[in-house]
Amino acid sequence: MAATDFDALLAAARAVRERAHAPYSRFKVGAALLDELGRVHAGCNVENAAYPQGLCAEAGAIAALVAAGGTRVVAAAVVGVGPRLTTPCGGCRQKLREFARDDLPIAIGDAQHELARFTLGELLPHNFGPEHLA
Ligand code: THU
Repeated sequence: MAATDFDALLAAARAVRERAHAPYSRFKVGAALLDELGRVHAGCNVENAAYPQGLCAEAGAIAALVAAGGTRVVAAAVVGVGPRLTTPCGGCRQKLREFARDDLPIAIGDAQHELARFTLGELLPHNFGPEHLA
């Protein structure tokens, strides 16, 4: 299989980040996911006047992947605002776990650069997944 193009994934995350609806936090996030067919699915955070109803970028990207018929997340990219790393929140780490395992690579970027790369296993050690229920 071809090497994952993390630059392309980060570019997709940057592009969708522009469309984020984040009038309350003013913290825009974009996420892009590569599925098992090599397709890229993007999502941005969508906040709500009833604050807890807001959605993370990763959740939107996962919904797009599933809606397109994807079943696996092969690689992920998340772009926020530097200098701190916009790593997926705890809830989104678990959401990603539903469609990936410990070896999922997650690139974290800002407007210009890839800042770091983690695996899901690093971000969510000793995780609980679908196999536990099989
Ligand atoms: N946010 C994401 O969309 N993804 C992350 O990985 C971290 C946080 C959003 C949620 C909220 O709209 C804003 O960033 C500030 O927390």
